[in-house]
Amino acid sequence: MIRSSTALAAALFLAACSPQSAPATSTPSGAAVEGMGGATMADFRTDVSMADLMAHVIDYNSFGVWHRQGWIIGETVQELFPTDDEGWHAAESAAFSVAEATNLLLLPGRPLDDDRTWVDATHMLYDAAMKAQAAALARDKVAFFYAGSDMYQACVACHNRYVAGDMGQPDTTLKPMPGGPPPPNQ
Ligand code: HEC
Repeated sequence: MIRSSTALAAALFLAACSPQSAPATSTPSGAAVEGMGGATMADFRTDVSMADLMAHVIDYNSFGVWHRQGWIIGETVQELFPTDDEGWHAAESAAFSVAEATNLLLLPGRPLDDDRTWVDATHMLYDAAMKAQAAALARDKVAFFYAGSDMYQACVACHNRYVAGDMGQPDTTLKPMPGGPPPPNQ
């Protein structure tokens, strides 16, 4: 008997949560795009400024990656990498946060021009952040370190063009750090 009443409770719960029974809470303005839950372009909230988005979301989470990697090479070598699961989990979370936040840079009104250079820079950052996430998951210190360097190159690529003036694309080939391990796959 206990089992069937649990099943009933579960069925009621599911019915309550099914999309059909959910009341519409707001009226869409503009055309909905399939797969967006009925949201339209007008539903994005983009009043957080680019400066705040950079400082508090992109930069903040990037340092969640960068503070957890590298070597301080002196008389002895000090490693900055996480030493336990909690630390690696935090590193992975920071990398995921950067990756997802690149979509925020593409919300309507945020890109500073329309020739796809901005889009390419966000994808460069996304790819690097996802590399960092995978490396953190795999506890691969060298790959995590170089993914962090790739992330930095993506910041520079966009800032060179949109913040400091267009100084051309930076050299993004990986170079070994003095005294550090070689880049992966070389
Ligand atoms: C797609 C373009 C783009 C990418 C990629 C990008 N930025 Fe930015 N960033 C900008 C723009 C544009 C500004 C200037 C914002 C303003 O002041 O209006 C900026 C400004 C900043 C600022 C200054 C914020 C302030 O308080 O004024 C910081 C810090 C920053 N970015 C960090 C980063 C870091 C770290 C990365 C890479 C992990 C990064 N950005 C990647 C476009 C980008």
